[in-house]
Amino acid sequence: MTEELVESDVLIIGCGIAGATAALQLARDRQRQVVVVTRAGKPEESNTRYAQGGVVARGEDDSADLLVEDILAAGAGLSLPSAARILAEEGPRLVEELLIGELGVPFDRHPDGRLAYGLEGAHSRPRILHVGDATGQAIIRALTAALRERPNIRLVTGATAVDLITFPHHARNSLTVYEPITCHGAYVLDQSSGTVRRYLAGATILATGGLGRIYRHTTNPEGARGDGLAMAYRAGARVINAEYVQFHPTVLALPGAEGFLISEAVRGEGGRLLTPDGRPFMARYAPEWGDLAPRDVVARAIHHEMVANGYPYVLLDIASVLPAPRIRERFPTIYERCRSLGLDITVQPIPVVPAAHYFCGGLWTDEWSRTTIRNLYAVGEVACTGVHGANRLASTSLLEGLVWGDRAAREIAARGPLPLVSPDDVPPWEETGVEGADPALIWRDLRAIQYTMWHYVGLVRSERRLARALRDLRHLKEEIDDFYRASRLNDALVGLRHAVQAALLVAEAAYHNRQSRGCHYREG
Ligand code: SIN
Repeated sequence: MTEELVESDVLIIGCGIAGATAALQLARDRQRQVVVVTRAGKPEESNTRYAQGGVVARGEDDSADLLVEDILAAGAGLSLPSAARILAEEGPRLVEELLIGELGVPFDRHPDGRLAYGLEGAHSRPRILHVGDATGQAIIRALTAALRERPNIRLVTGATAVDLITFPHHARNSLTVYEPITCHGAYVLDQSSGTVRRYLAGATILATGGLGRIYRHTTNPEGARGDGLAMAYRAGARVINAEYVQFHPTVLALPGAEGFLISEAVRGEGGRLLTPDGRPFMARYAPEWGDLAPRDVVARAIHHEMVANGYPYVLLDIASVLPAPRIRERFPTIYERCRSLGLDITVQPIPVVPAAHYFCGGLWTDEWSRTTIRNLYAVGEVACTGVHGANRLASTSLLEGLVWGDRAAREIAARGPLPLVSPDDVPPWEETGVEGADPALIWRDLRAIQYTMWHYVGLVRSERRLARALRDLRHLKEEIDDFYRASRLNDALVGLRHAVQAALLVAEAAYHNRQSRGCHYREG
């Protein structure tokens, strides 16, 4: 018999760098019980794992002021200066103390032992630490290994959050309507038994990542479907900047390569973008930056070249810049993946196209990761701290997860023991649907969302396309809500419901904002 109720001091939903950092810091108090749930089968599986490029630290001849300047410039006037300052001051210290000092993440070094700092687009200094081209993987391995050693952290895999438990919405006591909306945990689906359990907690942290999977082409893994954003929005949380979805300029365009990232670090090492017939083009779009312009500029330039000239892709050439052994050493993952698809990047240029990559908007959070719902925190990509503004500076996402994961933990710890709601006050989950969820419908509806977002809410937007997207998505949402109510829950169905809600949030924000800025670009 499986337990129906799980109680803890803190519930963390999601186990990428932000959620795992929060868990690790909170568990330093051995009395505090922390539960981390992830929909993935393994805690290491999250967007963090796929971050190739690296994490921003303090380079040589670098300063917090310079990093703030670069963040604000990339953010196209919409980054919150105070948030950028927090990131620039606290981030490098956490990299040093936590990632290197405590967890021993093996960042690349020069032969003399000095850390090797890489350069990426729109950075004025080389300041990006990396572990080859698999930085996120090295970081999340170290973090999850540390989580496993803490007896007061319980890691639950294969567990999909369905809805947040909030009062007054889920309260048995109707007088809670006079109190601010308050979160008491979440209803979570155990994927193997199909049971939905109450996870009650004094504080809940959303660390569910982004929403790239609402687009047809993305670098994100399958869990990035806006779960946390949709749940918190339904519960009444404030969502901001949802129109700013960043497209990564260089994703491998080979059959079988679905969403495989070619790191910006390739251009940081001198890689050049070329038309298919071998002509460089970035100087025409960004004379001062060239190939290392901010991401939104590069992605749009590639898009423009492709549309104007009918190219199916552009090329990224590293073969004529670096010697073959250096390419294999610096980019082992990219080299191997391309080789497995019949392309040798030490002699041939790489065909690339843009794809959805990072959600710059999200749940509004203050400098301590608090959302507008009491006892609900958000960290990492699901949150909008204001750092990224209208366009994120490369390799700041891992850092943001680290800083605000740590800040959420510090804020919760400072509050002392948080009272738990009584299970008697929260009704158990009521299963409404009886039919098995039809996988054909789930697949088709998800594809409909993805194509709608790709064509009408993509890199280049217009009023007509956005209006069409809204009509289509609203209709789809009605269909999905009906289907959801009639069916027994599974992870894919829960994700579909979250995805259509997330897509609507992005499309609505894009429709209402007529001003092009950063990665929200309107031609009408
Ligand atoms: C990359 O390696 O290009 C991705 C890193 C990031 O998204 O910041």
